[in-house]
Amino acid sequence: MGFATNAIHVGQEPDPSTGAVVLPIYQTSTYQYEELGKSRGGYDYARTNHPNRKALERTIAKLEGGLNAYVFTSGMAGIDAVFRLLRPGDHVVLSEAVYGGVYRLTTQLLVHFGLEFSFVDTSDPAVVLGAFRPNTKMIYVETPTNPTMRITDISAMAKLANERHATLVVDNTFLTPYLQKPIDLGAHIVVHSLTKYLNGHSDATGGTVVLTRPDDAERIYFIQRSAGAGLAPMDCFLTSRGIKTLAVRMLQHNANGLAVARHLDAHPKVRKVFYPGLVHHPHHELARKQQKGPGAMLSFDLGSEEAVRRFLNQVKICTLAESLGGVESLISLPAQMTHSSMPKEVRDRIGISDSLVRLSVGIEDVEDIIADIDQALLYI
Ligand SMILES: Cc1ncc(COP(=O)(O)O)c(C=O)c1O
Repeated sequence: MGFATNAIHVGQEPDPSTGAVVLPIYQTSTYQYEELGKSRGGYDYARTNHPNRKALERTIAKLEGGLNAYVFTSGMAGIDAVFRLLRPGDHVVLSEAVYGGVYRLTTQLLVHFGLEFSFVDTSDPAVVLGAFRPNTKMIYVETPTNPTMRITDISAMAKLANERHATLVVDNTFLTPYLQKPIDLGAHIVVHSLTKYLNGHSDATGGTVVLTRPDDAERIYFIQRSAGAGLAPMDCFLTSRGIKTLAVRMLQHNANGLAVARHLDAHPKVRKVFYPGLVHHPHHELARKQQKGPGAMLSFDLGSEEAVRRFLNQVKICTLAESLGGVESLISLPAQMTHSSMPKEVRDRIGISDSLVRLSVGIEDVEDIIADIDQALLYI
């Protein structure tokens, strides 16, 4: 079956007990046993599992091409579970421009549990190789990076990881399996913030971990049910509903992203645009090879904090807010919002300047998005 068919049907079969075409929300914390030691439908307690979670997990595993998927209360809860696959003393090489929350989780929390982290430019395989230590057990890649839009060659990372018995984890939040299939390129684990494109409607948080190896799957499920951060029924229901339209949404996001990026690129008040779909992007060719499209995330530099302040206070259709990947265009200032937990010297080194604006291009009429940006740019 094709991607859109799978997104609508896998895990979304009519409810066996009633024939309901849409799986009802199983808003119950516990399940009656048929007899002692025997559950009715394989469910006993909602922390461990429930029908809405199972349905969503099946859809995601299918779309990413994984063996299993597990869904968590947020992207960060899923990413935290992935790092719990490691042991004290293990070392991880990560993309240097990861989402600020991942930087905070690793540098301020997980280091205290004996894990070691090195942040490097993963777009250069030689740099990644140079960062390897005898205790390196994982490569953690965000591609494109948030918000600098640098691209990492997933196949090259998989080769490095396989040669050195390390696990390759790819955060596929920015592109979704519609535009990029990390597992086909050799990734062992894929993570997402479901809060973004997979849900697509900015009405629930969630995260997922997609596995390719039975051992990893077993351990992630153990972590999910032991630590208790599995996604709740209502949030699974909302995310399952969102995923059904993923293919059409991504097509429109992609088209709008490209149009807005080209417009900004030609605008005299915009210093620089970072978007892999533009031919001058340093990783344009790699993006064309590894992605089905450039996506709808981009960033651009307006030259000064003052210019950014005036611009962001004038936009109307582009909503000034954290997050991304919803049907509505969302705009933010990473230095003060998503990446504020990263020290300024680190942000400056990796290109997250105080005047870098991030835009998640929505699926409104693209003329309206562009007109909104243009009127706000008049104020700087
Ligand atoms: C690329 C990326 N990964 C992971 C996360 C974390 O997801 P959540 O906010 O759902 O915890 C985010 C959040 O913005 C993100 O942008």
